[in-house]
Amino acid sequence: MKLLPLLTGHSSSRAAVTCTYRCGDACFHEVPNTSANPTFADVLTEVSRRGALKAGAVVALATGGLAATTAPALAEPEQGKPKPPPGLDFERVEPNTLDAVVVPDGYEQGIVIRWGDPVLPGAPAWDITRQTGDAQAKQFGYNCDFAALLPFDHAGLAALLVTNHEYTTETHMFPGYDENNPTEEQVKVAWAAHGLTVVLVTRSPWSGQYRPKPSRFNRRITLHTPFQVTGPAAGSDLLKTSADPTGTVVLGTMNNCAGGVTPWGTILSGEENVNQYFANADLVADEQTRKRLARYGIKGTGTVRKWERFDSRFDLTKQVNEANRFGWVIELDPHDPESTPVKHTHLGRFKHECANIRIVADGRVVAYSGDDERFEYIYKFVSNGKVKKGDSTHARRHNMTLLDDGTLYVGRFTGDSPAAEIDGTGKLPSDGEFDGSGEWIPLAAGNRSFVDGMTAEEVYVFTREAADKVGATKMDRPEDIQAHPKTGRIYCALSNNVERGNPGKEGATEPNPRLNNKHGQVLEFEEAGGDALALKFSWRLFLVCGDPAAPDTYFAGFPKDQVSPISSPDNVAFDRHGNLWISTDSAGALGINDGLYGVPLDGKQRGNLKLFLTVPKGAETCGPIVGDKVVTVCVQHPGELDGASADNPVSHWPDGGASVPRPSVVAVWKPGRHGLSDIGG
Ligand code: FEO
Ligand code: CA
Ligand code: CA
Repeated sequence: MKLLPLLTGHSSSRAAVTCTYRCGDACFHEVPNTSANPTFADVLTEVSRRGALKAGAVVALATGGLAATTAPALAEPEQGKPKPPPGLDFERVEPNTLDAVVVPDGYEQGIVIRWGDPVLPGAPAWDITRQTGDAQAKQFGYNCDFAALLPFDHAGLAALLVTNHEYTTETHMFPGYDENNPTEEQVKVAWAAHGLTVVLVTRSPWSGQYRPKPSRFNRRITLHTPFQVTGPAAGSDLLKTSADPTGTVVLGTMNNCAGGVTPWGTILSGEENVNQYFANADLVADEQTRKRLARYGIKGTGTVRKWERFDSRFDLTKQVNEANRFGWVIELDPHDPESTPVKHTHLGRFKHECANIRIVADGRVVAYSGDDERFEYIYKFVSNGKVKKGDSTHARRHNMTLLDDGTLYVGRFTGDSPAAEIDGTGKLPSDGEFDGSGEWIPLAAGNRSFVDGMTAEEVYVFTREAADKVGATKMDRPEDIQAHPKTGRIYCALSNNVERGNPGKEGATEPNPRLNNKHGQVLEFEEAGGDALALKFSWRLFLVCGDPAAPDTYFAGFPKDQVSPISSPDNVAFDRHGNLWISTDSAGALGINDGLYGVPLDGKQRGNLKLFLTVPKGAETCGPIVGDKVVTVCVQHPGELDGASADNPVSHWPDGGASVPRPSVVAVWKPGRHGLSDIGG
C-alpha cells in the first residue's frame, strides 16, 4: 500500500477560507491555553506512586458484562475477506476528490434540503443575487452541521429535521462581496443564516428521500431569537448588558456546531467558535477582562464579518459582557414551536462542540461535552434531578431543567506507560496500547465553587480558566463525544493538533501521543464499574487516524491493510447494531475528500474501519444519522476551497451546471421498502 499524497504548505488542512469564516482563523492565532497544567511526567510520577490507579485496576471494577466487552479484542488474521458485521454490509467507497456525494454500489441518494430552500410560509424562492435578511429568516440557513430526525409518526415516514447552521461564508454567499465593506443587508442575511432550522420532512416507505413540508412546527432560530438563560449563572453581573440588565435573556445563538438529541426529545446544540464575532477586545480598558477574553481567543480589533458596524453589541468597548452570553450549550424543544430555547449555564462556557446525555440507572442524567480547540478539555456534568418519563409537554418541561442543577467536572487523563515510551511518533508503547486511567475533577455545583480563587459564577462563565487551575488534561481538539447506548462506553473524536510539541507547547502525552498531530485520534473510555456517576474511568485510544500504511496509525489492532484511510474525526454516531460511525472534517490532510465511516467496536472486526460515503470537494461531512437502509448527513461548506467564491465557484454541487455550491442535507438509502428499524433517528 502506498502512502497517500499529503498536502503541504498550509498549517491547517482546511482551506484558508474555511479557517477564516468557521473558526476565525483559530489555527493561525496563538493557542489560547497558555496555562501551565501538570506535565505528563508529573502526573505519571504521581500515578506510579499510587500504583493502584492503573487502568487495569479501574477496569477490574467494572461489572461483569461491561468488563467482558471492554478489553479490546485483537483481530485474528483471517483468510480472505471477513464477513461484514451487521450494519456494515456494504462495499467500501474508495477515497476520492470528486465534486459529488459518493455512496456504495446499490445505494441511492437525494437532497433533502439546501441552503435557501423555504422553511416558513412566505419564504421567497432562493435567488443568490437577491437575498435579504427577511427572506433568509424564512429559508434554510447556511452551513448545516448537526442534524437530528425526531420521529413524527409511528410508521417512520415523517420526522422533524433539526439542523444547526454553524457559520456563514460571505464570500461564497454574495456575488461581488466586498470583505472590507459588507452592506447592512448582507449582514442581516448572515444573522438570519446562522442558528437552527426545524422542518417537517416526510418520505414514502419505498425511499429514503425525505422532502420538507409546510408545517406549524417549522421554525427558524437566528441571531435574533430570544433565549432564556438558565442555571446558576443566570442573572449574573457577568451576563448583564444595557439591552438585558437582568442577564437572563440573550438574543440568538451562533456557531452551533454539533449537538445531541436528549432522551426526552429536545435538541442540545453547542455554541463553538463564538470568539470571532466580537470586535475590539484589545481596546477593552481592564487588563483582567482582556486576559479573560484572550483565554477564549477573543482578541484584536475589527472582525472578519464586521457586524460591529451594524449592532453595537458585537463591539466589546460598548458591551463587554455580550461575549459572555455565547459559548453555552443551548436546548430547544422542536415539538413546541412557541417555546423559548434556553442556554444552560451549568454546563460551563467554552467552545462547546456538542453535548450528549446519558440516563443513569437512578434516573439522573450525565452530559458529556468537549471544548474544541487545541489543548482544551473534556467535561462532564451530573444532574441532581431525575428524568421524568413520557413524552408529554409536562415531562419535557421538567426534563429541560435537569441540566440546570448538578455538578460540573473536567477530565484528567493519565497514561499507564512510561513517559519515555510515548516518544511523539505514534509508536505504540510496550504494553501495546495508548491507554490509562482518569478522573473527573469537580469545578462547581450550583452556587458552590470547587476552584480556589473563583466564585461559582466565574467557574461557569470562565470555565476554561477554572479547568486550567485544577490541572485538566490538554487534549487534541475534543469534538463530538457520546456514550454508546448499549455498552455505556464513551467515544470522543479528537480531531487533530498540529501545534502539539511546537516550541512552548505541550509535547506528546499518552492520550495525545503524536507531535504535529495532523490526523487525530478516537478516544474510548468507560466509567469505573460501568457507573456513569463514577469519578474515575479507564481509557484507551481506539483509533490513531491517518494513512493506514503509515507507521503512526492504529486501528484497534485490526490489520491495517484492510481498513480505509481517515483523517480528522469530528462527529460520532451509533447504529442500532452498536457500530460506531465517524464523520470527518479535514481529510484534505490526506489529500482526499471528507467522509462517513462505519466501524465495529467489538469482536474480531473491532477496528475494521470502512468508508461509507464521501462528500464533494471542499466540503465537510457532519451530522450523521445512521439507519440500516437510510443514512442522512449534512454536507457543510461544499466547494469552500481557496480562490473560490460566489463569483468563481469551484464546486457546482448539488445543482450542477455553473451553479454555486449550496450546503445541504443529503439522504442515502438502499432501494426497497423501509421499516422502522431501517431508518436512523
Ligand atoms: Fe465546528 Fe468542532 O467543529
Ligand atoms: Ca499504555
Ligand atoms: Ca464539528
